[in-house]
Amino acid sequence: MKYEFSARAHTLNSSPLLSIRTETRRGTLISLAEELPAEELFPLSLLAEAASTVISDDAGALQYGDPEGYAPLREWLTGDWLKAKGVSVAEGGVLLTTGSQQAIDLLSRVYIDPGDRVLVENPTSPGILQVLRMQGAVIIPVRGDRDGLLPEHLRTQIRLHRPKMLFATPSFTNPSGMLWSLARRKEVLELCTSHNLLIVEDDSYGDLHFQRYSEHPSVKYPSLYALENVSEGGHVLYIGSFSKTVAPALRTGWAAGSRELIGMMAAAKQMADWQSSSLNQRLLHHLLDVTAFDLREHITLLNREYNTRLKLMAELLKRPAWKSSSYDLPAGGMFLWVTLPEGLDAMALLKALLAKGVAFLPGPLCSVSGGHGYIRLNFSHPGRDELLLGMNLMSEAVTEFTARS
Ligand SMILES: Cc1ncc(COP(=O)(O)O)c(C=O)c1O
Repeated sequence: MKYEFSARAHTLNSSPLLSIRTETRRGTLISLAEELPAEELFPLSLLAEAASTVISDDAGALQYGDPEGYAPLREWLTGDWLKAKGVSVAEGGVLLTTGSQQAIDLLSRVYIDPGDRVLVENPTSPGILQVLRMQGAVIIPVRGDRDGLLPEHLRTQIRLHRPKMLFATPSFTNPSGMLWSLARRKEVLELCTSHNLLIVEDDSYGDLHFQRYSEHPSVKYPSLYALENVSEGGHVLYIGSFSKTVAPALRTGWAAGSRELIGMMAAAKQMADWQSSSLNQRLLHHLLDVTAFDLREHITLLNREYNTRLKLMAELLKRPAWKSSSYDLPAGGMFLWVTLPEGLDAMALLKALLAKGVAFLPGPLCSVSGGHGYIRLNFSHPGRDELLLGMNLMSEAVTEFTARS
């Protein structure tokens, strides 16, 4: 049959990311392309213990649950976990979602009409760009530097485009790994609140912070939500996820904000999937609250290993092939955002690398437009040996390209 897809569906044009994902699933590629955590660090035995107890204790675990999510997990989250970050959430102000990706999608559905202008950090994550394109938003890029979004550019874009909202990831922006300074956080918040812009603050990577502080890192780098400090919810919708800190297959993320926003998102969620898996949420709650699992300790372990992998990658980027490339070493997250040597095109390099069995994410997938001179390298998923081999093959391909040009 000749299908007649909606105009919006055409924004989903087959993405190189999808084919990379398919290849990696087949185990045929070394992938430096994706947003995956290290499998060997998943808390397997404690998750197995939680799964067996949850299923054998209560048949209700297999029943439909609340659209807002399993209440004890919501309480765990909004209790000590978020409070320790200075994030306080009013009753009815949190929704458990199918990963933070669903939180982004639901908010976009209830807040954006086709043609609405939405600000994003540029570069930003492919997942955010895809949702906004599907929604028919006009995407307006805002530039940043090492300290975060540039307030001057943000002010200009607000004046020129009169946007409705800003999507931002102040702690370890995907892909640039940017960690906004406190001053920038305050300036951006002030600008957005004074122009009545909603901020969607994606804190999916915030816990992957490699530096150790005597106090909680959120004292030095508070979320915009915590800075605004309106417990009934104000200009910031704060979203996060257990994907990077526990396991993505649990598909459990959240949105916290005003009751009004959360209520609309919960209504849209009932159309999308009625509720996220309450079995997964019970399992996660059991893991966090009943077993010997300590999420804080687990995050410390992840951060130690990811930092080691990042340092290994940075070491391998000192090879001659990369001498005219550059990057800023991030203090956390999962990615290095590399400026390629002059004249090298990310898409052409990807084609050559795929033939050698290695994948990375080309800059255009993270960019509102352009981005051909950049690549995103993931250091959290490949083990140390794989990382070494993948980077060797990358260096080989870059050398071949530069010799030709
Ligand atoms: C910035 C950002 N937000 C959200 C997500 C979605 O993650 P999940 O739906 O697994 O929570 C990703 C994916 O890696 C991401 O990079």
